[in-house]
Amino acid sequence: MVHNRKSDSIVAGRKRTSGKKKLTKYSTKTEKKLKHSSQLYLKRQAKDVYVQMALREGFRSRAAYKLVHLNDEFKLLKKGMSIVDLGCAPGSWLEVINEELGKNCTVIGTDKIEIEPIENVNFVQGDFTTQETFDEVMGHCPRGVDLVLSDMAPETTGHRETDHIRSMMLANIAIDFALKALKPGGTFVAKFFQGGEEQEMRTRLREHFDKVKFTKPESSRRESKEMFIICFGFKGDLTKNANKVQNEIKDI
Ligand SMILES: C[S@@+](CC[C@H](N)C(=O)[O-])C[C@H]1O[C@@H](n2cnc3c(N)ncnc32)[C@H](O)[C@@H]1O
Repeated sequence: MVHNRKSDSIVAGRKRTSGKKKLTKYSTKTEKKLKHSSQLYLKRQAKDVYVQMALREGFRSRAAYKLVHLNDEFKLLKKGMSIVDLGCAPGSWLEVINEELGKNCTVIGTDKIEIEPIENVNFVQGDFTTQETFDEVMGHCPRGVDLVLSDMAPETTGHRETDHIRSMMLANIAIDFALKALKPGGTFVAKFFQGGEEQEMRTRLREHFDKVKFTKPESSRRESKEMFIICFGFKGDLTKNANKVQNEIKDI
């Protein structure tokens, strides 16, 4: 079945008993009071296989399976890595990382909203569009990072163009961070909502990475405009390299 996690998937088949929750029930009375969009949301959640799976397996949200699927396909998570997770709340990607790598990695998660603490994770709370938060996260990884993940998403308005522009702004801030924080050879993953500007983003990233791909994991809702860009083989800080070459030329 399409929704089954692969047998070799990192947490597949694990019976997670802690955090087991039941689906929220809502009465018809409550339903009548809710806005039409909220009713649709609740109905969709109750039917969604990944919502059910997350509840069964004790993940904080269905978003967990997006990282599970990205990792199944691209083998992102490796022992010994240092990883930054931008827009990490409520923390299901951090749970996936923790299940896969445990103490064999260094993880920094950041979000503007607080999360329940997760073992082995350093958390920075703040708005990543502010210099202060950006610098604070940078301060946690002075020796560089192997993997930058960004699942940051703006609050959606339903207006396609607005949501696209806002998501591209967050993706570009994540890129700025990745270009400063990644070690050569590092990997960058970011979510965005499709709408046109992603081609420019791809061109920008191709300058800095050996390989750049768009992908949509099977757990990403089909009707959603969400998409991920995955970049492998960070070439290193090009400005630094350019300065180094200039200095070497001067020395000759
Ligand atoms: C889809 S959720 C992330 C889900 C997460 N990957 C998980 O698995 O639990 C997107 C997150 O991006 C965060 N976010 C959006 N804009 C942000 C910003 N400017 N700074 C920090 N976090 C932001 C939101 O607060 C939200 O928690």
